[in-house]
Amino acid sequence: MTKVTLIAGANSLTSRLNGLVEYTQQILIDHQIQTQVIQVHMLPAESLLTADISDLRLQAVTQQVLSSDGVLVFTPIYKGSFSGILKTYLDLLPQKALSDKVVYALGFGGSKHHLLALQYALEPVLKELGTEDLLQSTFVTQDQVIKNDRNFTVDEDAKKRINHQLDQFTRRLAHEQKEIKLWEKIV
Ligand SMILES: Cc1cc2nc3c(=O)[nH]c(=O)nc-3n(C[C@H](O)[C@H](O)[C@H](O)COP(=O)(O)O)c2cc1C
Repeated sequence: MTKVTLIAGANSLTSRLNGLVEYTQQILIDHQIQTQVIQVHMLPAESLLTADISDLRLQAVTQQVLSSDGVLVFTPIYKGSFSGILKTYLDLLPQKALSDKVVYALGFGGSKHHLLALQYALEPVLKELGTEDLLQSTFVTQDQVIKNDRNFTVDEDAKKRINHQLDQFTRRLAHEQKEIKLWEKIV
């Protein structure tokens, strides 16, 4: 079964960024894709900050990433860039951890002013981690996700743009799977 890991870089579960995480996760599940979510702020903080890769809890989540076919990366925009919380985790991944994966990033900010932060700040890091299959990122503004108690509602414009990218994402995953099967047959 195809596996996708969603890495979320907000600082709480109540962040509206998680409206995007939930929305995309449901679409992947509808495509019969196995999903797992890493909420970086819930990882052991001391091990993250001291880069203690011997921490078994960190090793377990990193193993999830390495065994995935695709990775979605979600970040709030803070101070014109992606979140430091997310960076603490990306810095602990092995050097080419994303090399054989389809990768798609989504950013969430207060306004469109920092629309390009994903392109100039996050995408180079994802490329440094080895992905050669990086989709164009999507930027959503905070007024496009509404929180009602424990539920999030994503507005139609944001959904449309995300759906378009997820369609590409799932197609590429399917293509990769076909290629792997073909190689298995040849070998
Ligand atoms: C410390 C901090 C810095 C922020 N810097 C930016 C920024 O530079 N650009 C931007 O568009 N939004 C910025 N924002 C807005 C956040 O991206 C936005 O409020 C957040 O992702 C919305 O999620 P929430 O539901 O957790 O509030 C900032 C928010 C905080 C708390």
